[in-house]
Amino acid sequence: MCGIVGYIGNREATPILLEGLKRLEYRGYDSSGISTLVDRSFKMSKQTGRVADLVRLASKDRVSGTLGICHTRWATHGGVTKENSHPHISFDGKISLVHNGVIENYLSIKKFLESTGVEFQSETDTEVFCNLIAYHYAKEDESSPTRFLDSVRRTLKHIEGTYGIAVICADCPNELVGARKGSPLIVGIGEDELLLASDVSAIISRTTNVVYLNDGELVSLKDGKVNLTTWDDQERTPDIQQINWDIEESELGDYPHYMLKEIFEQPEAVTNSMRGRFSDDRSSAKFGGLNISPQELRQIDRILFCACGTAWHACLVGEYLIERYARIPVEVEYASEFRYRNAPLDKNTLVIVLSQSGETIDTLAALSEAKRKGFRTLAINNSVGSTIAREADGGIYQHAGPEVGVASTKAFTSQLTILSMLALYLGRLRDLSYQEGIEYVDALEKLPNLIGETLKINDAVLKVAEKYKDMQDCLFLGRQDMFPIALEGALKLKEISYIHAEGYPAAEMKHGPIALICKECPVIVLATQPDIHGKLVSNIQEVKARGAPIIAVACESTPLPDDLVDDQIIIPDCHRSILPVLASIPMQLLSYHIANLRGCDVDKPRNLAKSVTVE
Ligand code: G6P
Repeated sequence: MCGIVGYIGNREATPILLEGLKRLEYRGYDSSGISTLVDRSFKMSKQTGRVADLVRLASKDRVSGTLGICHTRWATHGGVTKENSHPHISFDGKISLVHNGVIENYLSIKKFLESTGVEFQSETDTEVFCNLIAYHYAKEDESSPTRFLDSVRRTLKHIEGTYGIAVICADCPNELVGARKGSPLIVGIGEDELLLASDVSAIISRTTNVVYLNDGELVSLKDGKVNLTTWDDQERTPDIQQINWDIEESELGDYPHYMLKEIFEQPEAVTNSMRGRFSDDRSSAKFGGLNISPQELRQIDRILFCACGTAWHACLVGEYLIERYARIPVEVEYASEFRYRNAPLDKNTLVIVLSQSGETIDTLAALSEAKRKGFRTLAINNSVGSTIAREADGGIYQHAGPEVGVASTKAFTSQLTILSMLALYLGRLRDLSYQEGIEYVDALEKLPNLIGETLKINDAVLKVAEKYKDMQDCLFLGRQDMFPIALEGALKLKEISYIHAEGYPAAEMKHGPIALICKECPVIVLATQPDIHGKLVSNIQEVKARGAPIIAVACESTPLPDDLVDDQIIIPDCHRSILPVLASIPMQLLSYHIANLRGCDVDKPRNLAKSVTVE
């Protein structure tokens, strides 16, 4: 979850490190810190609070030097305090370390180190890690040129848990060491400089040449060279890959928040997700990286989706789409449940994991478990070169561009678009006719324009938000493929505005949540499907009879009578295969405006992180 950056080169490290750290803040932002090496001693600044505060502090503390590491934290072990924030420095002042992950056996190591006289300053597992390296460093042969790297390697043999680390040593002004197990780490190869980071966004302004570390690898960046080895000291030639991100894509531009920018980027994001992915006869979709033939796909008789958070909601939409258009039974599991559940699966099951970041630890573990059991796996994700993308047998990149706002918007609709295309592709391998395929592709090609049309509701949604911004509770209702959109609407609202919200299947409301309905609990109803319009009207009547204000989302040709609803947001008519995308937009805008009007930090909601790389 936490963000890590390390730098070694000819330039002043601090501004480069802090600029990278700002771009990683979405990973966690409880506290932040930096340490550099000057004349064989560490200069350090750390504090609770945001990176912007650290920038001021580091300048006041005059943190300088050409070698350094920094960190933005999402607390796991120990509260949010200055002492617990990273970097940590070892008891003897020799080692400084930043860490992303969780050390499971830290208590026994701490006990051991305490028995040798080490005193701890914090409650963190990371300080234990740091001191264990110092302990081994003190015992290594002083004359060895690899003394520092060897002490890290020795330490890793005793560490259980997950980590991505960047470490510096007071005696080694020319060396920056990193290691990974379960938490991402990459090396950036710049001009006369090398960087370490927990993801590409931190270093993209300096270089597009990167090397991804694998689990169980260490890297030493020394004298301009990248030395990659495994725990048991096997060398690996670094495989340098080119990143094709545009730095401007991750800049805020004229928008007040990334979330709003990313909502308005959706026409472009879904265009990029679809680019080059229609068959020549324009009756189906095609994907280059599935690594599974049409013949093999025809053998699949079940699909299991695994994901977390918003991506899990996308999977629920995928279930409706694939079952409707491809007639393949689909199940959806929380990745965190699947990994420990030992669910019986049919041998012809295809396991598909969805993850915007491609680094969510539970999704990665679910993928590994499915692979271990011998299932074919696919990954849908937005981050080229991510761990999940590299682990899966095949995959589909979203190409939605970097998403910075913690609340996912364009990545979600891009996932819905890809799932819709997958339903089309699988459907065309089975019973979906050529003519139906042609209509489907036509609908998908219209999608970017229709999103553009839908975004025109922004002002109307702002007015609704002004009216309801002080509510304390809110219910989102939808049926069939609008049920996951109701869940996602509720999640968005609670994530960024801290209003209690629940998503429910509209008819199921009678079996419990109806007890909550009163005039202080507005109800948002996704009344968009013409085929079940009458049923939705009945559900709205049930709510109205109990006095709750009703905000409806309806399609152009099937608006609801004015006397039935208090407020109505109209979206364009469209093919059912893309309706979930359009219906998501009022949900996004409503939660954005309500959170903004309540003065919440829209892009960095409390307690959340964009990428959850701890269990
Ligand atoms: C976190 C984020 C969510 C996201 C979820 C899964 O909880 O706050 O917005 O949906 O992780 O992330 P992934 O990168 O796997 O899609």
